[in-house]
Amino acid sequence: LTADEFCHRLLTWFDQYGRHDLPWQSPRSAYRVWVSEIMLQQTQVATVIPYFERFMARFPTLEALARAPQDEVLHLWTGLGYYARARNLHKAAQLALEEYGGELPTENVETLMVLPGIGRSTAGAIIAQSTGRRAAILDGNVKRSLTRLHAIPGWPGKPVVERKLWALAEYYTPSTRLADFTQAVMDFGATLCKRSRPDCKICPFNDVCLAYAQGEPQRYPESKPK
Ligand code: ADE
Repeated sequence: LTADEFCHRLLTWFDQYGRHDLPWQSPRSAYRVWVSEIMLQQTQVATVIPYFERFMARFPTLEALARAPQDEVLHLWTGLGYYARARNLHKAAQLALEEYGGELPTENVETLMVLPGIGRSTAGAIIAQSTGRRAAILDGNVKRSLTRLHAIPGWPGKPVVERKLWALAEYYTPSTRLADFTQAVMDFGATLCKRSRPDCKICPFNDVCLAYAQGEPQRYPESKPK
């Protein structure tokens, strides 16, 4: 499957079935995409939306977030869980205000990863969605879809497997429609190539998916060895 063919099929699927009305899609800014990606790290879209709206109403800019007291940030996070995310977000906003003039350092993945709470995949998701520049992502959804498409054995957290998955993620990432592509791979993993009972019958890749050809796509990805 060429990268062009992959993107064409995925974006055709996305145009029809993807999510196009998420609050961080418009208006789109690095700050709004960043907050959404941190909230979405361990939480589903439907849960995140009302939290995101309240958060933006109270902290419309990075500067407003940086200048707020921490307990107010944590208060708006109540119910989302994983509170280290909120503390890191607040710390990162203060750092960006002091060191980068109130802008997120979206020059490249490495500069963004300096901020607490931003790993490689989150950095890629922020850059692709907010600047439209080419950057790959590899979150749990993408790992699952790629291990199935290529029938990749082994736990995806294992460094050799993870390296292989990053290489595939980079290979498939297009140089146009980066924001749509990024949302598309996540929507695809979350709503079609689901952990259990994936909708293979209607999948645009079922003719080329190696896990589907093997008959048990849900066997991928393998879980962490005990
Ligand atoms: N998980 C992480 N980022 C996401 C996004 N933008 N949409 C859906 N799920 C996500």
